[in-house]
Amino acid sequence: MKGAKNLVTKAMVAALLADTPSELRSVPEISDVRVVRGLLEIHGVAVETLGDTMRLDPANVESAHETSINAHAGSSRIPILFCGPLLHRLGEAFIPDLGGCHIGDRPIDYHLEVLRNFGAVVDKLPTGIRMTAPDGLHGAKVTLPYPSVGATEQVLLTATRAKGRTELSNAAVEPEILDLIAILQKMGAEIQVDTDRTIRIEGVDHLVGYSHTALFDRNEAASWACAALATGGDIFVGGARQQEMTTFLNVYRKVGGAFEIEDDGIRFWHPGGDLKPVVVETDVHPGFMTDWQQPLVVALAKAKGISIVHETVYEQRFGFTEALVDMGATIQIHTECLGSHACRFGQRNYQHSAVIAGPVSLRGADIVVPDLRGGFSHLVAALTAEGESRISNVGIIARGYERFIEKLQVLGADFRVDG
Ligand code: EPZ
Repeated sequence: MKGAKNLVTKAMVAALLADTPSELRSVPEISDVRVVRGLLEIHGVAVETLGDTMRLDPANVESAHETSINAHAGSSRIPILFCGPLLHRLGEAFIPDLGGCHIGDRPIDYHLEVLRNFGAVVDKLPTGIRMTAPDGLHGAKVTLPYPSVGATEQVLLTATRAKGRTELSNAAVEPEILDLIAILQKMGAEIQVDTDRTIRIEGVDHLVGYSHTALFDRNEAASWACAALATGGDIFVGGARQQEMTTFLNVYRKVGGAFEIEDDGIRFWHPGGDLKPVVVETDVHPGFMTDWQQPLVVALAKAKGISIVHETVYEQRFGFTEALVDMGATIQIHTECLGSHACRFGQRNYQHSAVIAGPVSLRGADIVVPDLRGGFSHLVAALTAEGESRISNVGIIARGYERFIEKLQVLGADFRVDG
């Protein structure tokens, strides 16, 4: 397994901040990386790859044509993170309509507010968003309404070269963010993370290129771990590390899964016997990640008893369960907060708590993949089901899972790819 999609794509953007080339290792071959590469290239960054090493040279950064930028509209959420670096380099930025998975509204209000705080002038156009920084960007005091991963990264990528000091309160501290901070530190940034999730950044005039091996993908690791559990299999996930996954591993063990930590990865398997139900709440780090719940739900459909998953990060992240219900799973989605604490979605009628009753045997079905993580869970469900399933729109899965078809083949999955 290679580096984390949710770090690699941001590390690629960080290369824009430097005056000299950067080298990023363990870059996965996934479509989100290709999208970000395309966006960097149209802005004059020379990108070369050799195996899984990527070299990014930002010496000739230039403004891109709106039409070339718009060719990337709807394909990823990463363009919003280009704003700070482009404002520093060029004094202007334009970003297209954003994409990403449809798992809720996914607004960008925090991002825009952050950028305005730094002195950006934001102009919303029918085709996208144009930004300028007539007086340059200056440090700011920012408090996020929610510890958003993307908005925290927005602050980091903007503040490191802004004039003066930035203080970010209520920041997210996901391992991918800490790895981005490590990269920025290598580049010459001055960043301090306090125990109360306040991040303090002292702006600097110049940054240099970095050389870095990306953090492993803990979302991919958790997905394969759940695949082993749901299918009664045994999977060694090379490159997975315990430290960033302790919360996941606790739940995995509670459900009845077995794992063994090795120096070069983690082995996950179903040790036999009944799987046990659990109550899980998704949350920001160090909580149970929202990207872990979808494949886990498939395993929970096979557990003996009633499980509850309370999704507190995204308001609409149970759309993928409809297909599981069609396959015979007993899953009810509720608007109430069914976890131990009320979340910000409880009073707002969002379908954000799932009750899963098991064990059930799933049967094959026709499924159209709705989003990245949901799509992977559908693959797993289809592999456990009796009879054939037809899964379409699997291209979405390639956004975040490198060579998943080959990996499934190696694992002995029985499937055929048409088209
Ligand atoms: C990142 O999304 C990841 N994406 C997501 O992974 C991940 O699920 C999420 O963080 C949480 O860990 C990438 O890194 C590319 P957020 P991000 O800002 O940064 C609300 C995957 O499958 N919000 O932490 O977009 C938002 O609606 C993806 O790999 C606002 O209201 O997530 C959500 O409810 C899916 N306004 C909450 O904050 C804003 O301006 C957390 O979102 C920004 C966010």
